Amino acid sequence: MDLHKKYLASLKDKKNSFEHAVTEYLRMSGVYWGLCSMYLISSEDLLNKDEVVQWVLSCQHPSGGFGGSVDHDAHLLYTLSAVQILLIFDKIELVDKEKIANYVAGLQQDDGSFYGDEWGEVDTRFSYCALSCLSLLGLLDKIDVNKAVDFIVSCMNFDGGFGCIPGAESHGGQIFCCVAALAIADSLHHVRADDLCWWLCERQTAGGGLNGRPEKLPDVCYSWWNLSALVILGRIDWIDREKLRQFILNAQDETEGGIADRPGDVADVFHTFFGISGLSLLGYTEEDEEGIPGLRRIDPVYALPVQVLERMNVRVWRAV
Ligand code: FPP
Ligand code: ZN
Repeated sequence: MDLHKKYLASLKDKKNSFEHAVTEYLRMSGVYWGLCSMYLISSEDLLNKDEVVQWVLSCQHPSGGFGGSVDHDAHLLYTLSAVQILLIFDKIELVDKEKIANYVAGLQQDDGSFYGDEWGEVDTRFSYCALSCLSLLGLLDKIDVNKAVDFIVSCMNFDGGFGCIPGAESHGGQIFCCVAALAIADSLHHVRADDLCWWLCERQTAGGGLNGRPEKLPDVCYSWWNLSALVILGRIDWIDREKLRQFILNAQDETEGGIADRPGDVADVFHTFFGISGLSLLGYTEEDEEGIPGLRRIDPVYALPVQVLERMNVRVWRAV
């Protein structure tokens, strides 16, 4: 825990590094991954709240959408991350919710899909971003939810999984997006849960880690993408939880902190977040025998701490 705190705190001091420069376009999501990781290990005070909130606000465009950094184009991916950061910090009242919601709604197409931004890429990731963002803002009625559901269902494959557009192969990341978006839209009855969860549990490899597609290497981030879908559908016990826990723990950097995509690789904030989130979904939320506090709980649908959603009175996911 202490090493992960040190690692997360050190990220903001690496502003002159090569990695910092080449990830500028996704900084808003990077801050969300870092802040949410900190929250799950009860150390969100590692970030300067006022400074971060001011920076988030400075990334907003007149359209209502947010860019990944100051002066970057607005995009749904970063609009969701900005809303998530403001909610974690309990500062959502600083923005005009209607304006953000109008930006999101303006990206919906006639077939129910969403463009990621004004340039017209369609992907079920953007359907999730739109539904999650509007639901968190309490403004889902700004879009045609039925059409959004129809588009997601049109991306379902013979194996029960989902791809990024109709006909595209099933992928763990898209499955999270589609299952979570259907959960938000109260439309999980469209999911062929047995087929999908069978495909998902077949993603567990001999070393315990999960991969995102058949024949791929295991990767810690699928401890979020795949596992959250299994949790939403109430089938987490279809995988070997202890082996997955060990795989995530083996991917920790034991000298500098942080978690990598797989054991032996270099840690990064993305896999640190999804590793910690995976452990939280696996239920490592209780204090251990040595008195070390457990992780805070994360919601599998909104990818936000349960405490944040409870504070907002948003329905927290409880698998049946
Ligand atoms: C894998 O990508 C992940 C996805 C395709 C899903 C991404 C989803 C979002 C960005 C929506 C917002 C998410 C949250 C948690 C709020 P990859 O390119 O790493 O896949 P690969 O393993 O095939 O390379
Ligand atoms: Zn990964």
